[in-house]
Amino acid sequence: MEKVLVATDKPFAAIAVKGIREVVEKAGMELVLLEKYTEKAQLLEAVNGVDAVIIRSDIIDDAVLEAAKGLKIVVRAGAGYDNVDLDAATAHGVVVMNTPGQNSNAVAELVFGLLVYGARGFFNGASGSELKDKKLGILAYGNVGRNVARIAKGFGMDSYAYDAFTPVEAIERDGVKAVQSTEELFKTCPIVSLHIPATAETKRSIGFDLMNSMPKGATVVNTARKEVIDEAGLIRMFEERPDFVYLSDIKPDIDAELAARFAGRYFATPKKMGAQTAEANINAGIAAARQIVGFLKNGNEQFKVN
Ligand code: 3PG
Repeated sequence: MEKVLVATDKPFAAIAVKGIREVVEKAGMELVLLEKYTEKAQLLEAVNGVDAVIIRSDIIDDAVLEAAKGLKIVVRAGAGYDNVDLDAATAHGVVVMNTPGQNSNAVAELVFGLLVYGARGFFNGASGSELKDKKLGILAYGNVGRNVARIAKGFGMDSYAYDAFTPVEAIERDGVKAVQSTEELFKTCPIVSLHIPATAETKRSIGFDLMNSMPKGATVVNTARKEVIDEAGLIRMFEERPDFVYLSDIKPDIDAELAARFAGRYFATPKKMGAQTAEANINAGIAAARQIVGFLKNGNEQFKVN
């Protein structure tokens, strides 16, 4: 019997696991669970002998792939797959997929949770500001960016977006103004929400000069990846711009320093919360299980990323 492992350091909601189990067992496969593991050794042991693995931000590197004798497919239940060593997976003959779009509304809703929290001074009792009529910059216009634009309309915000790969018409059709570059987006918008993946090109791409070009009341909200921020530039931005606020769903490496030095202007969620809703867990988890069944039974490679 083929085995499907769910290896999640940050577990799915129980209802999502139930749904995954139903899909897997209906296909005549066995579900194995490794949740809330604390040591890599536990993952190395669990992957041995399974045919498929469903993960979230869990690290799949060469050592894991080496230990995973018989592994055929890894599905990242979510959008970003920078936690998977694609070259190593390919070298081991393992297919890697993601489940694009399945958790994007959850992430987009959190953007506004963070923005309201920031605009109201972290609920400190003093008068804050409103989001209505403010210019919101959306970097980039993928599944999450589009959901951010949709929700921003309800807040009465004036949305701008830059995306190197999405045609201008597709952005403007949504009532969002398309700008020509990341630089133009930051120069135009006092609020910028990051939705770029962590790649060789984007890592540390958001630095001091870019952030310092933002109009007064500069706020950056990061629900993407910590790696896209240049952390030295982030500190300098806090130091030189007393109006600057940084709201993040991913703790930077310098979290303790920022919390100590810039309290009231810096907030990071204690645990990455963007995709942590029952709905997103169900959508992404069940999509992952279905993709595994489709691949193992019929060789369906839709959403393969390596
Ligand atoms: C994603 O890339 O899908 C999101 O960052 C969610 O990540 P998570 O599954 O670790 O919460």
